[in-house]
Amino acid sequence: MLLKVYNLTKSYFKGKLEIPALREVSFELSEGDFISIVGKSGSGKSTLLNLIGGLDTATSGHIYFRNKDLWDMSRTDLAQHRKYSVGMIFQSFNLIASRNAVENITLALTFGGVPRKDRKQIAIGLLSQVGLEHRIYHKPSELSGGEAQRVAIARAMANNPSLILADEPTGNLDSITSNEIIGLLQQLNKEHGITVIMVTHDQENAKRISKKVIRLHDGRIVKDME
Ligand SMILES: Nc1ncnc2c1ncn2[C@@H]1O[C@H](COP(=O)(O)OP(=O)(O)O)[C@@H](O)[C@H]1O
Ligand SMILES: [Mg+2]
Repeated sequence: MLLKVYNLTKSYFKGKLEIPALREVSFELSEGDFISIVGKSGSGKSTLLNLIGGLDTATSGHIYFRNKDLWDMSRTDLAQHRKYSVGMIFQSFNLIASRNAVENITLALTFGGVPRKDRKQIAIGLLSQVGLEHRIYHKPSELSGGEAQRVAIARAMANNPSLILADEPTGNLDSITSNEIIGLLQQLNKEHGITVIMVTHDQENAKRISKKVIRLHDGRIVKDME
């Protein structure tokens, strides 16, 4: 088992006001799975991905990654988890605007401790893998939405993660481009065995491509469709 989420609860506090974002969420994921998370805006989807990615900490409950509880990890282990175990992709791409495609990726490789002399070649290889070898010196503003998301996917792959967390990766894209991006994620899943958790609004696509669809409502899993 790659990931086990158990009774995961997360509340945000505004002064004394408790805002429950996730309530007792449990599910499991095997290596190589492709699952989707659907649910209305505000249902807790991003909160769940951020907790799994180690960007935030839960109020209670557990996340086991390869049987290691994120709670028990030292700060160093958690930093390793963020760097090497997971790769994150966002709706708004989150690329660095002043850097071109290849630099956006070499930066991620720098954080991953890849020696300087190897970075550019690896970055170009990753960009080729996502079909962008002809755009490596383009800045984000010079790329289409679909191309920018490809760069973001290449960056997410930079440090060889086992798990890709994609938060509405097609939310800013037209339907044709969305299908291409989903196809790319499927390809990474099938050909490289990368496990994918994708948050999406597109229920039909979710059902079509995923082994399992988790539906959140007010922070709870309401349906869990195999
Ligand atoms: N940093 C925060 N502070 C307070 N409330 C938050 C914060 N982040 C999210 N929330 C609240 O938690 C709930 C779940 O949010 P989120 O996980 O972003 O939902 P989704 O991604 O499904 O739209 C929402 O009610 C949201 O307003
Ligand atoms: Mg969200």
